[in-house]
Amino acid sequence: MKFFIDTANLDQIREAQERGVLDGVTTNPSLMAKEGITGKENIMNHYKAICEIVDGDVSAEVIATDFEGMVREGEELAALNPQIVVKLPMIKDGIKACKYFSDKGVKTNVTLVFSAGQALIAAKAGATYMSPFIGRLDDVSTDGLGLISEIRLIYDNYGFKTQILAASIRHTMHIMDCAKIGADVMTGPLKAIDGLLNHPLTDIGLAKFLADFKKGN
Ligand code: E4P
Repeated sequence: MKFFIDTANLDQIREAQERGVLDGVTTNPSLMAKEGITGKENIMNHYKAICEIVDGDVSAEVIATDFEGMVREGEELAALNPQIVVKLPMIKDGIKACKYFSDKGVKTNVTLVFSAGQALIAAKAGATYMSPFIGRLDDVSTDGLGLISEIRLIYDNYGFKTQILAASIRHTMHIMDCAKIGADVMTGPLKAIDGLLNHPLTDIGLAKFLADFKKGN
């Protein structure tokens, strides 16, 4: 399972990279705005800065909602760095743009996926990644993890190569449940990733080992 961090905050990206388990980054226009990154030049420079920190894929979202605009923006984004994945919304023109970029060998991430039907069409269009937002589904009392299971089944039925990128991860158990179901990737906050590290018995055990070592030396 690949681990992506879902932020545009450079300090957090650096910190996650230092853990040694980071495979990439996802951003979106809201995350960029949260960091105060506005204006095309600043946004483009910010993507370049993220690519310098991490080794893996960096999703950069288009703002246009028409095919021509998405192609124009996506090409500019992809030209920034080979790590860039063009992130496209799950709408008619987004799917058309996804097919366009897949045919050209440019990596894509179809975002804002909330149903298995949307996931199926994203795979048909050759998406590299497809992002179901599980936390946002849970927020409206709909089973986000259930959606991941449905998509896993459909993709396995036909051997689709599109990777299921479980997005809108809210906590550590989301990561564990997605891992059990077989999501290919998860993107979430550093706090959720760090939650995987902790166990009180580890801390108790280590304290005892160190105390016993001291006794013998
Ligand atoms: C995914 O690529 C999105 O950036 C993200 O996971 C959205 O999560 P949210 O529901 O926490 O905004």
